[in-house]
Amino acid sequence: MFHVKHMGAIMLNTTCDFLIIGSGIAGLSFALRVAQLGSVIVITKKNEIDSATNLAQGGIAAVMSASDSKQNHTQDTLVSGAGLCNEEVVRMVVDKGPERVRDLIALGVGFVKNSKDSSGLDLGREGGHSKRRVAHAHDFTGKEIERTLLEKVKGTASIQVLENHRAVDLILMTENKENEKKLGGCCAGAYVLNEKGEVEVYRAKVTTLCTGGTGKVYLYTTNPDIATGDGLAMAFRAGAIMANMEFVQFHPTCLYHPKAKNFLISEAVRGEGGILVDQDGHPFMEKYDSRKDLATRDAVARAIDREMKERGADCVFLDITHKDKEFVKERFPTIYKRCLEYGIDITCELIPVVPAAHYMCGGVETDIWGRTSIDGLLALGETACTGLHGANRLASNSLLEAVVFAERAYEYCADHWDSISCKAFPEVESWKVGDAQALSEEILIHHNWDLIRRIMWNYVGIVRNIKRLQLAKKHVKALFQEIEQHYKDYFVSQDMIELRNIALVSLLIIESALHRKESRGLHYLVDYPESQEKLAKNTRFRKKSGEWPGEVEFV
Ligand code: SIN
Repeated sequence: MFHVKHMGAIMLNTTCDFLIIGSGIAGLSFALRVAQLGSVIVITKKNEIDSATNLAQGGIAAVMSASDSKQNHTQDTLVSGAGLCNEEVVRMVVDKGPERVRDLIALGVGFVKNSKDSSGLDLGREGGHSKRRVAHAHDFTGKEIERTLLEKVKGTASIQVLENHRAVDLILMTENKENEKKLGGCCAGAYVLNEKGEVEVYRAKVTTLCTGGTGKVYLYTTNPDIATGDGLAMAFRAGAIMANMEFVQFHPTCLYHPKAKNFLISEAVRGEGGILVDQDGHPFMEKYDSRKDLATRDAVARAIDREMKERGADCVFLDITHKDKEFVKERFPTIYKRCLEYGIDITCELIPVVPAAHYMCGGVETDIWGRTSIDGLLALGETACTGLHGANRLASNSLLEAVVFAERAYEYCADHWDSISCKAFPEVESWKVGDAQALSEEILIHHNWDLIRRIMWNYVGIVRNIKRLQLAKKHVKALFQEIEQHYKDYFVSQDMIELRNIALVSLLIIESALHRKESRGLHYLVDYPESQEKLAKNTRFRKKSGEWPGEVEFV
């Protein structure tokens, strides 16, 4: 399906030095740097701005102030990661953080300033941080970063951004049949569905997955529609080693309103004094954690889940009414305006909130340079599992990870440019339509889409048990098999690509969750409520060779 054949029909196709799949902060930062080395194509499946970055409200965590230290940031990240962070990676990211934030400022990102702090920046605080260290642009930090990067990308001649182009699968070059059985090999680009509905071949010397996360696997999520785990699914199908996919972070506070789709209420609201209260207006976090409302996300989300279940409540509430009105409006303009549209004045009314799927801490395993286990394939941002987040990402460490690793991956490519640039483009077979036909009933897609997301929400959520996980596996496996058959029977479409990917990613989350027989960080299993020292290691797996396409092999 996606292997390069060394003989056979050859079609004219597009070549570039760097193929970057995804246009969030990771993809664009990497594009801007490698544009100095060679030609770059960024493909993005909707509009260039549609990314999780664009929705990020909180900001980017880094040690910018004299009152903070790298030791503090490292320690907070390790505590949040619950024993699974790679300390070398944490130290490297924390160390490079301030430099990367200064790069963003130099590019033109307008972080809010504060002359009273030694950093000159208005630093925010979020859950799990012992200090104020989150550089922000009010509550639209991601949008501001995305805007700045896109502006620079547009002014760079060697970067071409293709909107409405969806990667279907990676092109994997294997030396011979024997190797093909062992999987691995070398990535030579991707098959890409263009806006006319044709599948084109994009050949590249370096292919980089920056497709963001997997939030759309769940019924309720803070993520944008593009977050269907495409990079993870493609990497798995190509045989890459994956890690830690049981660690799905649920953001504690997504707006609960029938008309609001995926609207996040930033953790920075709690950082500025917001308090979680029950329907009677009583604060409840102190019952669960001594850090109260600024405990790490896993702890806050579980507490809310418990409160809602015990009281049979549809939501809990966030109270910021005790803060100065003008301060709230100025600090959180996006949240203020959006809530007002729904009839909630956050300066004098409680905000109804529920937890929602927010961030995938696992993903395609990479080394400290962003390299995956497949030669020629990099993964950056939420798609990657670099070792920074461990079992629970510290708030606002993700934008940081994206910029630090984009720079690291660039440094690697620059250092090895002589050998990368002389790689020949392999001959690649054009996409085969076979006996596929046009899909006549969209319901085949929509029904399964809905079923998977409900199963994941109800059976593979914040608090899990083995029985529900096993049921989820049974149901999702059956759906996955049906969808794989549809994928063969019908012409490929964007909806089909995404459905196929969420089905596979769901299965990988379930398999990983069943594999970890303990509770740790974001993975809470009632059958095994404690962490076990001997299990303080990553869940690493890959596609099992020769089996049906969703079978995993733990390594
Ligand atoms: C938020 O603003 O609460 C989200 C920030 C993050 O997920 O890091």
